Amino acid sequence: MSRISKTLMGSVAGLAMMSGAALADDVEVLHWWTSGGEAAALNVLKDDLAGKGIGWTDMPVAGGGGEQAMTVLRARVTAGNAPTAVQMLGFDIQDWAAEGALANLNDLAAKEGWDDVVPAALQRFAKHDGNWISAPVNVHSTNWVWANKKIFDELGIAQPTNWDELIAALDKIQAAGYTAVAHGGQAWQDATIFDSVVMGVGGPEFYKAAMVDLDPAALGGEQMKTAFDRMAKLRSYVDDNFSGRDWNLASAMVIEGQAGVQFMGDWAKGEFLKAGQVPGQDFLCFRFPGTQGAVTFNSDQFAMFGVADDQQASQVEMASSVMSPTFQSAFNVVKGSVPARTDVPDTDFDACGKQGMKDLAAASASGSLFGSMAHGHAAPAGVKNAVYDVVTAHFNGEYDSATAVEELVAAVEGAQ
Ligand code: GAL
Repeated sequence: MSRISKTLMGSVAGLAMMSGAALADDVEVLHWWTSGGEAAALNVLKDDLAGKGIGWTDMPVAGGGGEQAMTVLRARVTAGNAPTAVQMLGFDIQDWAAEGALANLNDLAAKEGWDDVVPAALQRFAKHDGNWISAPVNVHSTNWVWANKKIFDELGIAQPTNWDELIAALDKIQAAGYTAVAHGGQAWQDATIFDSVVMGVGGPEFYKAAMVDLDPAALGGEQMKTAFDRMAKLRSYVDDNFSGRDWNLASAMVIEGQAGVQFMGDWAKGEFLKAGQVPGQDFLCFRFPGTQGAVTFNSDQFAMFGVADDQQASQVEMASSVMSPTFQSAFNVVKGSVPARTDVPDTDFDACGKQGMKDLAAASASGSLFGSMAHGHAAPAGVKNAVYDVVTAHFNGEYDSATAVEELVAAVEGAQ
């Protein structure tokens, strides 16, 4: 463990008890929330901290999924200049904790009773060696479809519930002259669709075997070939300009009525809301056909890095804000995610948010809740990146499905 983190272990804890606006300094926050909906959600946090007298120094690093943000973070830490707080996902949090770089939030967590209200699936990432090392702000899930309601109504399309119905719906949308699937060709976006397709092909058991347990038989079997065949089929519904497009611009295609659906995590809802759209009226949210009952999740968490003594009170204040039930409601209503605490009422959430909360609880109870591979909650970054490479190469036509299956087995094995 590094010297700075040992110091932190002691002093953050002490300051937690006497923290207050008078002691607090500004926080510098590294994050990748740069789209309209994301920025709106971030403002909820900025305003909350401003109310406590804590200023905000913004360190945005654009790039959905946070890959670029993690590269910048590594450079900052290496240069001995870590930000105060960092948005982080799943296994990345564990990796930084293992390096001894993260502050220990145990005293605050004990004082506020985090153990009782944060579900085990999130504690698995927010704790390291039994110590709280991050504050979970939300739970997103990746197996959603966002649809333009006017197009569905115009073409008489009912919400598809399985793969064949989905394909029939996409064919209809395409035949009517719309782009059927709004998509951005970036590895993390391809992988986000892959989460849902894998779950849809073989259900929770197959998803777990392949994406979480990394079982070579599941990664290399017939069901995985079917998953790649389905990815290739979905590729036939995107427009010619999809390559490199940011996810929020793909959402805009659905919002503006150019495209029928987007397969994306529920941060997409933030874009629809920011555009003034209402679920059930302007857009539809439903689970990726064939994955109903299951949830592939990711949880944005704020991890605190080793900083000068005078900034540690702000870190504790920020963690405390993030974990407050009223904040968790206000923030997630805007962000599209659901609260990381189980004791937050769904009163202020729209229909999609209420369904998200219900689905999460049901999936957790039935053992059908699994971390998203695409968003760093199924396997460490090395494996995730290996999966990205194969999924994207296949999506872009470099591999046929049989080759992709072989490459996947080899890439995942090589990355472990
Ligand atoms: C995810 C993150 C979300 C959202 C999305 C797109 O990884 O958990 O909060 O920001 O990327 O940027």
